Amino acid sequence: MNYPEIVEQLTLEEKIRLVTGYGSWHTYPVERLGIESIMMTDGPIGLRKVDEGETASHVSVCFPSGCLTACSFDRDLLEKMGETLGEECQAYEVGMILGPAINIKRSPLCGRNFEYYSEDPYLTGEVAAAYIKGVQSKGVGTSLKHYAMNNQEYRRMSYDAIVDERAMREIYLAGYETAVKKSQPTTLMCSYNLINGEHASESKKLLTDILRDEWGFQGAVISDWGAVHYRDKGLAAGLDLEMPGNNWANQGFIRTALADGTLTIKELDTCVDRIITLVKRIVKHPAKFDFEKDHDLTRRIAEESIVLLKNKNNILPLAPETKVAVLGEFAVKPRIQGGGSAFINCYGVDITLDQLKGRGNVTYSKAFPSDGDTWEEAELEAAVACAKEAEVAVVMAGLPDVYESEGFDRTHIHLPEAQNLLIRKLTDLGIPTVVVLQNGAVVDMPWADAADAIVEAYLAGEGSGTAIARILYGEVNPSGKLAETFPLQLEDNPSYLNFPGDGYSVRYAESIYVGYRYYQKKRMNVLFPFGYGLSYTTFSYSNLRLDRSEMLDTDELNVTVDVTNTGNRFGKEIVQLYVSDKGDQTGRPQRPVRELKEFAKVALEPGETKTVSFRLSKRSFAYYEEQVKDWLVPTSEYAIEIGASSKDIRLSETVKITATKTVPLKIRPDTVFGELLRDPRTKQYTLDNLIKQEASGILSFSPEAIAALMDHNPIRGLRNFSNQPPQRVDEIMVELKKLAGDTD
Ligand code: BGC
Repeated sequence: MNYPEIVEQLTLEEKIRLVTGYGSWHTYPVERLGIESIMMTDGPIGLRKVDEGETASHVSVCFPSGCLTACSFDRDLLEKMGETLGEECQAYEVGMILGPAINIKRSPLCGRNFEYYSEDPYLTGEVAAAYIKGVQSKGVGTSLKHYAMNNQEYRRMSYDAIVDERAMREIYLAGYETAVKKSQPTTLMCSYNLINGEHASESKKLLTDILRDEWGFQGAVISDWGAVHYRDKGLAAGLDLEMPGNNWANQGFIRTALADGTLTIKELDTCVDRIITLVKRIVKHPAKFDFEKDHDLTRRIAEESIVLLKNKNNILPLAPETKVAVLGEFAVKPRIQGGGSAFINCYGVDITLDQLKGRGNVTYSKAFPSDGDTWEEAELEAAVACAKEAEVAVVMAGLPDVYESEGFDRTHIHLPEAQNLLIRKLTDLGIPTVVVLQNGAVVDMPWADAADAIVEAYLAGEGSGTAIARILYGEVNPSGKLAETFPLQLEDNPSYLNFPGDGYSVRYAESIYVGYRYYQKKRMNVLFPFGYGLSYTTFSYSNLRLDRSEMLDTDELNVTVDVTNTGNRFGKEIVQLYVSDKGDQTGRPQRPVRELKEFAKVALEPGETKTVSFRLSKRSFAYYEEQVKDWLVPTSEYAIEIGASSKDIRLSETVKITATKTVPLKIRPDTVFGELLRDPRTKQYTLDNLIKQEASGILSFSPEAIAALMDHNPIRGLRNFSNQPPQRVDEIMVELKKLAGDTD
């Protein structure tokens, strides 16, 4: 405990009030002991400060959403964004911002994907850690959310995520782990859903065992708004603060639980102490909200993040004299943010059309509305006519607000029909067509082959209009890369058959094969791969060096590579380092083809070369082994791959790694849902367990008999092929159980 002397002086009622919040956005104050009330507001892309009793929020600056900022692959940029938000919090007397939101994009359909960063846990963790560091450097708190497995909006308050431990550790928790270890967020926010039958808000495993005991989290856990199930169980599990506050019913449950002994005063005191610690960590200072300066930063962040997906014959950047027809209502009503708790009452939005007009020879036609999918044929035709008068058509396309938001999931990944129709009409007529997209998540693009250029601007915040114009006219060289895979069609996505579940539970049957880990393992074509993005210049990679060719898994590996700007324009390249286990994976847990383990963004003048250095350690090569509940590195040969995307590997070198820790001899579950191999009624191992290495060690057969059993025979083979009496088979089953440490 950090403040035992304060906890000691609190009355029981004060303690109960402290752990159950105060109003919608505050912690409970105990003035006589110097415990202030801190205010929290959403988050994560600006301040949604709502005064108690009000619904409207104060005017604030809207930054780009997580779907876009992750594409910057730029830790410094995210830190800068965090610092600015931290200062804004100070100016608005907000103690804590409710972000970042970092759930993994399991399915493109999740309604909140616009807020989340990526399908990749390494990228997610790194950018989240940078954001948190920035905010907290200003004395303001953060809330890393929504912990955990909140990967959909459908029945988000009650669905049960059925997920195996390996996927949980490698994919869904890893981002939180990085952010906790690197930046110590002041709080984590637990999610609404259940995980393997247990509410996140009551999970000691998540809130204490993993979060605090394993990762060393020093902060407090708060509930998502209304996520508390049983408050007393939550306290015992490590859920410190319930939000929103003043929950009189739950206060009653706490009193009862204390009286009947299901909750101890020590458990309550621990949570109280953590809330005091949280309050004391917030350090106020006078600050001024500089709207103009912050607005300008939103533009800069967008410019550093927007992704150029296609640029046939270098149609972009546009020359100022080129006659351009700008089509689509998004040009005058840009979609800059998503809906729900992240919604910002914006300070001022740059209008894309104005910005384009200020730079070039531009005409405009509405073509289709920005707020739905109904349209007028006459408007489409007028747009085509407008394009015929121009040299290039720029279609400002995107998803209307009603398509994606907190609170519901999408059911498809199509753009509104009018947009696809218009793009088709233009390309069929041979009109050079540039498509700019404003959307919070993946869309399919049936016209991708025909379009000349595609710019993915996502939800780029209030400066997006200027950022887009500057990129189209070449004042800025695009340098973002995709933080998620764009599949050819929704049905290709690994979660497709198990999303959004049956209304009660959702099986994460694809396990660790999320995003590019799946598409690459299945050698599937995608529309645009993870990590992909173009530039107006070109880069070459050379001279990949590893400082050793053999090592133990406890050693570190230093990697350097040279990157050169081979074009004639200043540009930034995102250098990606992937690790690929090249060994024979037969008979051991399978690995993805490659996994992102490092990245760097390098700025290069034309002709300039820079050396990029990376340092890899055990975790860069490890998988999570459920049997020993630890990260293991199988003895194997590993390729260190340097890529311009997950699919465009430019250089590769190998290192041999020898394991210092291996899995002890045990019955290994044959599927990621290892338990399935036990008969659920008897909990016995079934006759289908392989006897391979596991059983041969304890059989008292002659070598010939074992050979006769063959490698891949299930245990029933003992009965069918070895002439063993049935009792002996039963005995072997008992021995196997013992070996597996199963005491049932
Ligand atoms: C959302 C959180 C948000 C909270 C407070 C919840 O419904 O899931 O992300 O921080 O409301 O607005």
